[in-house]
Amino acid sequence: MRTQLDSWRRLKDLAEPAKHWSLQKLFSQDAERAARFSLELPDMYLDYSKNLIDEEVMGSLFDLAEEVGLVDKTRAMFSGEMINTTENRAVLHTALRDSSGSAVQVNGENVQTKIAAELAKMQNFVELVRDGEWRGSTRKKIRDVVSLGVGGSNLGPKMVSQALKPYADSELRVHYVSNVDGNSLAETLRPLNPQTVLFVVSSKTFTTTETMTNARTALNWLESALFDKKAVEKHVVAVTSDFAKAREFGVLEENIFEMWDWVGGRFSLWSAIGLPIALELGFDNFEKLLRGAENMDKHFLSAPINENAPVLLALLSLWNTTFLNFRAQAILPYDQGLHLFSAYMQQAEMESNGKSVNIHGEPIDYQTVPLIWGQTGIDGQHAFYQYLHQGMNVVPADFIGSVSSEITIEHHQDILLANLIAQSQALMNGVDANSLRRTALSAGCNLQEMEQIIPHKVHQGNRPSNTILLPRLDPNTLGALIALYEHKIFAQGVLLDICSFDQWGVELGKKQANEVQQALTKPGRDEGEFDSSTRGLIAYCHKHRSL
Ligand code: F6P
Repeated sequence: MRTQLDSWRRLKDLAEPAKHWSLQKLFSQDAERAARFSLELPDMYLDYSKNLIDEEVMGSLFDLAEEVGLVDKTRAMFSGEMINTTENRAVLHTALRDSSGSAVQVNGENVQTKIAAELAKMQNFVELVRDGEWRGSTRKKIRDVVSLGVGGSNLGPKMVSQALKPYADSELRVHYVSNVDGNSLAETLRPLNPQTVLFVVSSKTFTTTETMTNARTALNWLESALFDKKAVEKHVVAVTSDFAKAREFGVLEENIFEMWDWVGGRFSLWSAIGLPIALELGFDNFEKLLRGAENMDKHFLSAPINENAPVLLALLSLWNTTFLNFRAQAILPYDQGLHLFSAYMQQAEMESNGKSVNIHGEPIDYQTVPLIWGQTGIDGQHAFYQYLHQGMNVVPADFIGSVSSEITIEHHQDILLANLIAQSQALMNGVDANSLRRTALSAGCNLQEMEQIIPHKVHQGNRPSNTILLPRLDPNTLGALIALYEHKIFAQGVLLDICSFDQWGVELGKKQANEVQQALTKPGRDEGEFDSSTRGLIAYCHKHRSL
């Protein structure tokens, strides 16, 4: 049990006084604090000095990492051991971006051979489509790609597509549809010409209701517009681990791209699931994304734990959540390209570690991961930052920014960066009543009138944050940034003693939805097994269905 470990107990003791520390004081007592608690990698700067930590806390966190065997467990993941114990699978998204040529064995097979073959197949296909050699059934070039997928088979590629827009050419437009809400697909298809559309159906299982429903509707749209029962052959490709199901759908064997059971959905953008990225940005940019992630993999594998960026992020998350009891964490990118990054990381971390039993199936009696949420910082400032600054609950934040922009318009970038830096400063320092009084006096205000308003203006401060800066946002640095968080999540799982790679919690909802769907589509069916609330909701839907 984690709670019995020496380092865990020590951290518990250290947490009590740390809850009352002042970040401002910690900075004023130590001129070297920022240098002590920051890390510069070739293409990334991590400043974690604005956390309620000191050398002793960090030392105990490093001891914990050692006590739980983090380094050995990391090696086990990279080498293909079955670390997803509840599904008896290896976890090898790292192999997808490993260009070293060394073999990685799973069940006696070198997965690197398969990965290389699949990458070559992807590259060939991407070049055919982008060069206009791949033609639709009426011999027209493909102009629009519509990616159909959900969860891990959608959000990663979509997030990357948005982040790297400046690298896309306008020749080929890529659209993403994940929601089974028919409006989403209909709106996407409305302006498109079926003769020039290619659908990429991305589903590891090829059974997910949302994706398969969208895929069938898309196929009907194609067939009826093109008067061609074979439209699927030139207009639909699939990414899946179930070839038989994709073939059954009508996709030609040569148009099926493989993903493997040792790639988890939420870590899969590096596999053929990334096909829409490569189609939009070109294969060379997709490769740069892989190389960026590979650089982070090497860092994670080789850097000592006290200089290891993913490990530091995992330890700080554990400290803030499990020991200091802060229950949420905000991810706040100040780069418009990263506007889906918070949602992506929400899925990655919460689906991985949002659990309450340990790897042995025993109940956990400590806080695991926080609620992850956020949006672009600038928009957030005018929405929920009020809560961050003066709300009842402390929400540690990750501020993420890129120093230079691909598109330089005078002044914009400085304003953006100034806001990023100033917000973490303000969250840390706050403002007390006395300094508000001093400011009021020097501005000649009436102090008596001011006294009434002062309590409203006090900011407690002392709100922890990390700041991550990239020199610029490009395929390479984005790859590294995503891998940074992926490894943080892995390390967090090890520290918390959680199996990070299953998602049983998603299954129950899916099963229930199927049962409710039957009741919705077949009125009169025995609904006796449903509770009265569910029956009432279904009845309301029946009543208003045709309105
Ligand atoms: O969200 C739950 C989940 O099972 C994810 O793990 C997965 O990425 C997603 O659904 C989609 O699954 P599939 O790729 O099989 O369609």
